[in-house]
Amino acid sequence: METEEVAAAEQVVTPFEVSAPDGAIDYDKLVDRFGCQRIDAAIVDRIARLTLCPPHRFLRRGIFFAHRDLNKILDLYEAGEKFYLYTGRGPSSESLHLGHLIPFMLTKYLQDAFMVPLVIQLTDDEKFLWKNLTIAECKRLARENAKDIIACGFDVERTFIFTDINYVGGAFFENVLQVANHVTLNNLRGIFGTILEDRIGKVIFPAIQAAPSFPSSFPHLFPGNDQLRCLIPCAIDQFCIIGVVSTCQDTARDPYFRMTRDVAPKIGFQKPSLIESRFFPALQGESTKMSASDPNSAIYVTDSSEQIKAKVNKYAFSSGQASVELHRKLGGNLDVDVPIKYLNFFLEDDDELDHIKKEYSEGRMLTGEVKQRLIAVLSELVARHQRARAQVTEEMVDAFMAVRPRPNMFG
Ligand code: TRP
Repeated sequence: METEEVAAAEQVVTPFEVSAPDGAIDYDKLVDRFGCQRIDAAIVDRIARLTLCPPHRFLRRGIFFAHRDLNKILDLYEAGEKFYLYTGRGPSSESLHLGHLIPFMLTKYLQDAFMVPLVIQLTDDEKFLWKNLTIAECKRLARENAKDIIACGFDVERTFIFTDINYVGGAFFENVLQVANHVTLNNLRGIFGTILEDRIGKVIFPAIQAAPSFPSSFPHLFPGNDQLRCLIPCAIDQFCIIGVVSTCQDTARDPYFRMTRDVAPKIGFQKPSLIESRFFPALQGESTKMSASDPNSAIYVTDSSEQIKAKVNKYAFSSGQASVELHRKLGGNLDVDVPIKYLNFFLEDDDELDHIKKEYSEGRMLTGEVKQRLIAVLSELVARHQRARAQVTEEMVDAFMAVRPRPNMFG
């Protein structure tokens, strides 16, 4: 049933393309049209109550704004049953930008709060098929990206990181086959758009991204626990709302997991639940997409504090008025202002954030001052990431990737 929504979902692209040029995406519309559920205060409170952890700012501020069946996971958790987390990354570039870190930051919080295992899929196969890269390069990038992911602080006793090229086989491949046996080319056309001109490698890939949603793909972790539920944190750009569907190459889109949820009961598994984040804007604003070919469209985890300062000052789209006098009179527009949006993602202190928003929107605070605060916040975050990444050794990567039981993963 859910795959039928996919055809309709493609139409959704247009309204959001239309709304994005004003600099603000209408997330309410998006939730309605995609048929997912909103993350509201009640569900955030419930998570806090169940985990006894203060909610992550991404939850407090509605940055993760939509879900599918998160309540089912929480109901079972309340009744004493655990679940596992699944997320991933397509290793297509050497260094990650801040937008790439967002799902991993929330995943780290969820892992700690719920004390659950996590599997992370690195789709080196996908990037070979989609990007113009050699297999050797995809494998190298997967390992390099694993270091950035590990630097987010995951617990090796609860986390299994795998690359498709190494891990697909055995029980995992059995699930790939089960999925592949239940999806037609017609279903797939609803996900990709046209497929007839595409290479046949791409046709099997959605089944490979679906398989980690099923616990029996990991017999070293979940033996005999085939009904264990799975929660997938992922980013909104994986809805693919920016750009035209036929040119969108990103494969972690919501439609992929709708396909997975469709197939799950047919092959004897629970449907995976999803928790989905807002789009992280390019420095130039929400109407543009961060692009690897334009290093000035994003802040990278490898940027120096000088680069961060220069990029924020020069490129971050500001809604400040043309002159100080005018700004004092009219103030900034919080809905489209990129420094404000970035602070919303990364400034931890709620009171300070509210204060900045108020002062800026009422014209007492100037763009330059907001940018200065943002530069400090991002420089600290990136420097912390760089320190953590420098500590990640090849042995640590091997330990995360080792196919071995994690006996204390639920403890
Ligand atoms: N295909 C995704 C990408 O290009 C990577 C990925 C694989 C993923 N499995 C996932 C992302 C599960 C989110 C959740 O980034």
